[in-house]
Amino acid sequence: MSNDIQHEIKRRRTLAIISHPDAGKTTLTEKLLLYSGAIRSAGNVMVGKHKATVSDWMSIEQQRGISVSSSAARVEYDEFILNILDTPGHQDFSEDTYRTLMAVDSAIMLLDAGKGVEEQTVKLFKVCRDRGIPIITFINKMDRPALNPFELLDNVEKVLGITAVPMTWPVGDGTDFRGVYEREGKRFHFFERTTGGAYKAPVRLADVHDEQIRASLGETAHAKLIEDLEMVEVVLPQFTQEDFLAERITPVFFGSAITNFGVETFLQRLIDLAPEPQGMKTSGGIVAPESGFFSGFMYKMQANMNKAHRDRIAFFRIVSGKFERGMTAKHFRSGKEVKLNYPFQIFGQDREIIDEAYPGDVIGLSNPGVFRVGDALSTGADFTIPQFPRFAPEIYAKVVPKTGSFSKSFRKGVEQLGEEGVVQIFGDMQGSPIPLIAAVGELQLQVFQSRMESEYNEIIILERLPFTRTRWIGSDVMPASSTLTYALDDQGRKVVLFRSEWEMNYHVEQTKGLILLEKPPEDVAV
Ligand code: G4P
Repeated sequence: MSNDIQHEIKRRRTLAIISHPDAGKTTLTEKLLLYSGAIRSAGNVMVGKHKATVSDWMSIEQQRGISVSSSAARVEYDEFILNILDTPGHQDFSEDTYRTLMAVDSAIMLLDAGKGVEEQTVKLFKVCRDRGIPIITFINKMDRPALNPFELLDNVEKVLGITAVPMTWPVGDGTDFRGVYEREGKRFHFFERTTGGAYKAPVRLADVHDEQIRASLGETAHAKLIEDLEMVEVVLPQFTQEDFLAERITPVFFGSAITNFGVETFLQRLIDLAPEPQGMKTSGGIVAPESGFFSGFMYKMQANMNKAHRDRIAFFRIVSGKFERGMTAKHFRSGKEVKLNYPFQIFGQDREIIDEAYPGDVIGLSNPGVFRVGDALSTGADFTIPQFPRFAPEIYAKVVPKTGSFSKSFRKGVEQLGEEGVVQIFGDMQGSPIPLIAAVGELQLQVFQSRMESEYNEIIILERLPFTRTRWIGSDVMPASSTLTYALDDQGRKVVLFRSEWEMNYHVEQTKGLILLEKPPEDVAV
């Protein structure tokens, strides 16, 4: 193992931001990018919906002015490289959002200070927890009316079951927001609104009892800060890296991304806290980043990014070794050697061919149709990796060909797009030829429909079904009711479909011994 690779591993952090739409993910990512030495032009670095570049990506994306893809942003700060993988929300929410979490080593949980933990954050948090990924929390929008900080921490604990330990502590909120006190560094960061709409945030070194802080905050606010900090000491545990890595606690920072307040402190601490690139579970044990060979896995596929070329892109997370353009690696599922000629890095929508990359980096590989989500490539000895997890769908539709004929191309399209992971395909229990397609986000259905038409020449009609919950059965006991709908997953396992959370809970209460699972029993996280 060369020192060169060791050095590259040590300076990388690969993470994602998990949040509910509108909490400020795009804003925070943009502000983090401001600190990046790599920043070039706005069009190059913007991610998600704020991006400015125009390209020839999927027509759906053009029509709706949104990004179908979740790509990566790279922040280079103080010798460190942060790969921030985008997890699309809003209308773009799809299984890819979850899959991206398979490729990161930690996550930033971004909360809106006025709202606390919201629905989509809970879903994404669960995926992180299943994988055992440590989570760092940023409570945003302190410049707007916020919930009491103790209430916010309590909310995290109650809803997510993880203890929130404040690393900074806010004084006031909204128009009374005065800044944050950094507990460990004992520094107060003043938040000052300046005329002309710009904000600046000077930092003064001082202990919390410092006269300067007292004078600046005023007697009452200062006394409240001291009282709050004492309370924090009493009621909350101390931060330890061990508890954080074991997901027993999440360190919390308060700030205001839009005014760039608290972002640099957060970035500095993020680099200290977030773990370096981690290894990968395989049939032959853990492949560590320092292993003497190149390896990694595909975590998401994207097709038709360029209509003229019909090209498909596999997003690949490097796990071990150095990647060099033009190298050959073994694709384990097919058993074939593949030459990796045109690897690229993705900035927003722009691509750039790269010559080398290291563990923790994400590269785009052109996919001639052989790669699938969860596939591994390696130059080392043969191994298999656990099946990529499947995520319980919340949206269902029947797929019917417009012509009424279940032609060969129709069946092939359904099968191939299912294998690629565009949607999940479920079979009808009665053996009907009409497949059920299922997804976690609307966008997946639209991508499926558009690809069936453009790639398989099949105009399809999607008949939406009213189900919102999918559960695999984890007990010998089956639901007592005879009115429920069942389907078969791609491995022929029975699932129950429910119309609502309420209906699902009702059946669990009614049937003693019934165990319902959110994913197939044997799926294991990578
Ligand atoms: P998202 O990617 O998580 O969906 O959120 P995004 O960053 O787009 O932010 C959602 C809205 O919240 C935006 O306002 C943004 O300006 C605002 N925002 C983000 N961070 C802060 C903050 O710290 N304080 C305040 N007061 N607002 C914040 P918008 O009006 O919906 O969009 P825009 O027109 O400003 O882009």
